[in-house]
Amino acid sequence: MATLSMDPRLSRRTTDFLSSDHRMLIDGRFVAAESGKTLPVYNPATGEVITQVPEAEAEDVNRAVTAARRAFDEGPWPRMSPSERGRVLWKIADLVEEHLEEFAELESLDNGKPFSVARVADVPLTVDMFRYMSGWATKISGKTLPLSAGYDYHSYTLREPIGVVAQIIPWNFPLLMAAWKLAPALACGCTIVLKLAEQTPLSGLRLAQLLDEAGLPAGVVNVITGYGEGAGAPLAAHEMVDKVAFTGSTEVGKLIVKAAAGNLKKVTLELGGKSPVLVFPDAKTDSAIQGTASAIFFNHGQCCCAGSRLYVHEKVFDEVVDGVSHLANEIQLAPGMDPSCQMGPLVSDEQYHRVVGYIESGIEEGANIAAGGPVSGVDRGWFVRPTVLTNTNPRMKVVQEEIFGPVVCAVPFSDKDIDAIVKRANDTIYGLAASVWTENLSLAHKVARCLRAGTVWVNCHNVFDASLPFGGYKQSGWGREMGEEVLNNYLQTKAVTVAL
Ligand code: NAI
Ligand code: MG
Repeated sequence: MATLSMDPRLSRRTTDFLSSDHRMLIDGRFVAAESGKTLPVYNPATGEVITQVPEAEAEDVNRAVTAARRAFDEGPWPRMSPSERGRVLWKIADLVEEHLEEFAELESLDNGKPFSVARVADVPLTVDMFRYMSGWATKISGKTLPLSAGYDYHSYTLREPIGVVAQIIPWNFPLLMAAWKLAPALACGCTIVLKLAEQTPLSGLRLAQLLDEAGLPAGVVNVITGYGEGAGAPLAAHEMVDKVAFTGSTEVGKLIVKAAAGNLKKVTLELGGKSPVLVFPDAKTDSAIQGTASAIFFNHGQCCCAGSRLYVHEKVFDEVVDGVSHLANEIQLAPGMDPSCQMGPLVSDEQYHRVVGYIESGIEEGANIAAGGPVSGVDRGWFVRPTVLTNTNPRMKVVQEEIFGPVVCAVPFSDKDIDAIVKRANDTIYGLAASVWTENLSLAHKVARCLRAGTVWVNCHNVFDASLPFGGYKQSGWGREMGEEVLNNYLQTKAVTVAL
């Protein structure tokens, strides 16, 4: 039951949902945890508990996996025509779109992000992901292959669903991360147990109700809520799971790999980043300032691809850093549902302390504050001011480690230094994304080739599309999300050979 006095800006649909009893979707039924335990859901703008959701543990995970196993081995989903599967995905997209405002409200309330942003980014991108993947359902095919050593055989490949998939997602884009995971796995004919992030379970639980409404057969998608250790770990280790797809920290990604070793389930990982942003002297200064500021401050820096290392040519360093700092100072901090909000609170008390701790460590190690700093000036909620650090060096924690907050380290580089700057940009354990700001076409493409990252943006940052593969080099992950490439995560190839 809801314990807070409801925000008057919330729609009736949202207040009805919030004051309902929250249930997980297991085997086509909405259920509580076997133990009856629940976990609290917080409003990051106030620190208050909004509601409670079930706290799944090993026995609930087992029920969900058993349901997904049965739905895969015996149920209709993998045997349905691709066209029917595609239609269900399209229907899910329509239903999410019909509830756009409601989902944006839930994301804002639960995660802290501005309602206005969730409305134009998180929810429409979710809709688009389901629509895009609905088209792929009918386009999954193998090849006929001429054998290199003889004509007496006819060989072809089949691309078949991998089976029961465990999907574990984080809190930064709760609904969108669910869509990135569910849509391709469903298009491929897999069945799923999706574990939502404990910090942000609301939009995923609401989505579960719509999945049911869209006509997914029982057990095809099971949605559970619980903590990482209590629910995520037994799910990743479960012997009846064929594949685990994880998005979150690199640290937990490594635990997932170990947990998967028991039955050698397949693994894909979308992990952390420390993405470089390179501004060359010929870049259009105004758009570089706007673009590099939003590269780090979008979603409060809680993006795996946040542009958190800002390398600027010395000729334009002061102008760009002053510009970014000015924009940072102008950003209006407010609760996400407040129409004046340009940046909301961080998601949790834990993330607040982690991010403030990084800012303080930067100061202790000798960095200067060009904007922001450890004190937000807001008297409640987990707010952190957008922060620009200068005078850093490559060995500092703030330069090496993922902060996952609105904190950027600005570093100058000089003219002759193109190779050196690329080397510095690549000097990280991560390799998720990067952006390059220049009007010089050949320089842009040359640098794009040299950067060791799964995504390179030129004169833009944080541009996502369902058609573009997204994922990490190095310790930023295994495999790709989205685009045609994500299908590889959920399919396996069978070679069939016939003697003629
Ligand atoms: P996390 O990696 O602990 O959590 C992500 C998901 O994994 C959640 O659903 C969580 O319940 C689950 N999980 C946690 N421990 C698990 C385990 N042992 N086995 C299976 N599942 C487990 O991330 P957290 O603690 O929320 O954030 C910590 C840091 O991780 C952030 O500061 C940020 O640096 C990074 N992060 C990166 C994200 C990305 O998009 N790449 C998203 C969220 C966090
Ligand atoms: Mg954690």
